[in-house]
Amino acid sequence: MFEEISPKTNKSLLKNSFIALSVIGSLCFAAYFISSANSSATPVDFQYNLELEEFRSFVSRYNKNYKTEEEYYQRLRIFRDNLSYIRVFNSQGQTWYMGINQFSDLTHEEFSTAHKKKVSVPERSMSNEKPVAAASNLQIPSQVDWTTKGCVTPVQNEGDCGSPYAFSAVGAIESAWCIAGHQLVQLSVQEIIDCSGPFGNDGCNGGWMTNTYNFVIKNGITSQQIYPTTGNQGKCNTAKEKQVVATISGYANVTANNATALETAIAIGPVAVAVDAIEAGWRNYKGGIISSNCGHSIDHAVLAVGYNLNNSPPYYKCKNSWGADWGEAGYVRISIAAGAGTCGIQIDSSYPIV
Ligand SMILES: *[C@@H]1O[C@H](CO)[C@@H](O)[C@H](O)[C@H]1NC(C)=O
Ligand SMILES: *[C@@H]1O[C@H](CO)[C@@H](O)[C@H](O)[C@H]1NC(C)=O
Ligand SMILES: *[C@@H]1O[C@H](CO)[C@@H](O)[C@H](O)[C@H]1NC(C)=O
Repeated sequence: MFEEISPKTNKSLLKNSFIALSVIGSLCFAAYFISSANSSATPVDFQYNLELEEFRSFVSRYNKNYKTEEEYYQRLRIFRDNLSYIRVFNSQGQTWYMGINQFSDLTHEEFSTAHKKKVSVPERSMSNEKPVAAASNLQIPSQVDWTTKGCVTPVQNEGDCGSPYAFSAVGAIESAWCIAGHQLVQLSVQEIIDCSGPFGNDGCNGGWMTNTYNFVIKNGITSQQIYPTTGNQGKCNTAKEKQVVATISGYANVTANNATALETAIAIGPVAVAVDAIEAGWRNYKGGIISSNCGHSIDHAVLAVGYNLNNSPPYYKCKNSWGADWGEAGYVRISIAAGAGTCGIQIDSSYPIV
């Protein structure tokens, strides 16, 4: 009967569909009533069943394996807490929204323990900082996006190995190498995890982007194909390490707490940026432009691949290393603000020089 609908039949259509909807509605109500008659169901149960359904699809989508029934119900409880947190947040009309992702069954403590201090910020002496842009009247484009220029590799997932410093610095090297005229090639994050200990990094327990550049300045870096990601820290494979695929000659720190300085650096190429990603904002981020729910205490690193000053609010676009399913296909947009910047993005950033 619905196939016959045409715009001309307005009045009778409305009437017919009203009847149809009422019939369907009563059927649903009856079905719901019958199915729940034995358990004296209330609207609260109905809501619970919907959330249980959502939890089941979450469990299968992210291959969650809970060892006991007790854990299953504990995870369900956390998931439902987060679900209602997400709903309340999304009803507030912010510049961004939250959603379900691989972290939705974790408590705040679990998430922050796993992600805390995965970058270890060295002391930085501000006195010998040099501004990236020598000319103060340098005109930068109002919009930059390196992902549209074929010089950014696909989003990866660090999993349980706390190595965002390596993903962000290696991502910056991949892009710089490509922008310098070489082929875009995925470089080995695993080599950094396994081999850069003597340069101050600590494998899956954290490290720092400039330590990574220093390692690559000295040793070069091989490809992901030759020295692939394992998800764990292993012994340095020196035979693979010797098969150098890309090199850099140096790196630059971007002047801290200055949006113009970071934009200017991004206009040259992708920049490794340190951020505060412990708070609920990042954990639940699904899309839009983050402008709240994070602080300024650095605990994570991502790769800034662009910015847009024409948008309201203006934003940086960053590639994260939490898989392509997180955020906007693995990316996050962060509003541009003065000083330390949203989530501290302007506090400590750097880029390699080929
Ligand atoms: C998710 O729920 C857990 C348990 O109630 C809580 O610790 C955590 O903070 C919640 N996450 C968010 C983002 O609300
Ligand atoms: C860059 O900053 C780091 C700290 O983040 C510091 O250790 C290093 O000396 C600085 N390097 C340069 C070239 O300024
Ligand atoms: C920020 O950096 C820009 C470009 O590097 C420079 O022209 C400007 O003076 C800096 N602003 C502040 C407040 O330091």
